[in-house]
Amino acid sequence: MDTPRHFLDIDRLDEATLRHILDSAAALKRGDSPGGEGRPLAGRTLAMIFEKPSTRTRVSFEVGMQQLGGHVVVLSEGNTQLGRGETVADTARVLSRYVDAIMIRTDDPERLDDLAAHATVPVINGLTDRSHPCQVMADVMTFEEHRGPIAGRVVAWSGDGNNVAASWIHAAVRFRFTLRLACPEPLGPPAALLDWATAAGGDVTLVRDAAEAVAGADCVVTDAWVSMGDEDADTRHRLLTPYRVDEALMARAADGAVFMHCLPAHRGEEVTGAVIDGPRSAVWDEAENRLHAQKGILAWCLG
Ligand code: CP
Ligand code: NVA
Repeated sequence: MDTPRHFLDIDRLDEATLRHILDSAAALKRGDSPGGEGRPLAGRTLAMIFEKPSTRTRVSFEVGMQQLGGHVVVLSEGNTQLGRGETVADTARVLSRYVDAIMIRTDDPERLDDLAAHATVPVINGLTDRSHPCQVMADVMTFEEHRGPIAGRVVAWSGDGNNVAASWIHAAVRFRFTLRLACPEPLGPPAALLDWATAAGGDVTLVRDAAEAVAGADCVVTDAWVSMGDEDADTRHRLLTPYRVDEALMARAADGAVFMHCLPAHRGEEVTGAVIDGPRSAVWDEAENRLHAQKGILAWCLG
């Protein structure tokens, strides 16, 4: 049996596949249908397992499946046998007999990998503590809508070197743009991930100073200081305050630079209201593009 087309992480796919997904997403956003069919996923079902909260991921996948003609089943740890200790492997085997694809949002990336290893249908990463690839596919799409092709451009990340930052690192290598991350010392991305980016020929650098990272950048990105599951909120606030994206920091970016944030946002913490609600903010387009990018992902996985 062929391996299903899993969408697990941006680094696990090649540039041509990722570009194909974004091209499909753009076509679907314009209203074009792949293969000329109006409802390419008619009769197909996506199971979504949420072991962490979600607004955008849940609604955009559900609406995306509906728009493609399919259906969803939403499961949480608390209302399934997963919450009583049934293994991820057995859950994968059983769900594969009912549905055509499985999306999971969970803490531990090993649960994602375990699901993919035992499912006979495509598995999609809807966020783990390690990465958030659906988000960054939407982010690349949003950048390109605002600023043109991302290859060779400069993206700056200011803040926690978290799961979203990790997917930006993967994207920088695959889509061939420069990524400068500014993170406090204990909250940088994993050293192994930075080493991978360098070995893969990427232009990814980690600095301590937000102003240095943002200088001349075409896009400035940040995320919450306290991600789901983080417990050291006071320490994080203290360490991350110098990385807040405010108008003074944005002024160091290139003319026409856009601001992005995966949301949910905390105004006055990682970003000021003047920036996120200001003229350079692309956050609502970015949130909308979760829908379109994921329709491209679903069409590829189930194509
Ligand atoms: N950005 C994002 O994934 O949002 P949700 O947590 O609301 O799904
Ligand atoms: N880094 C955040 C992203 C939320 C979409 C978290 O993991 O909570």
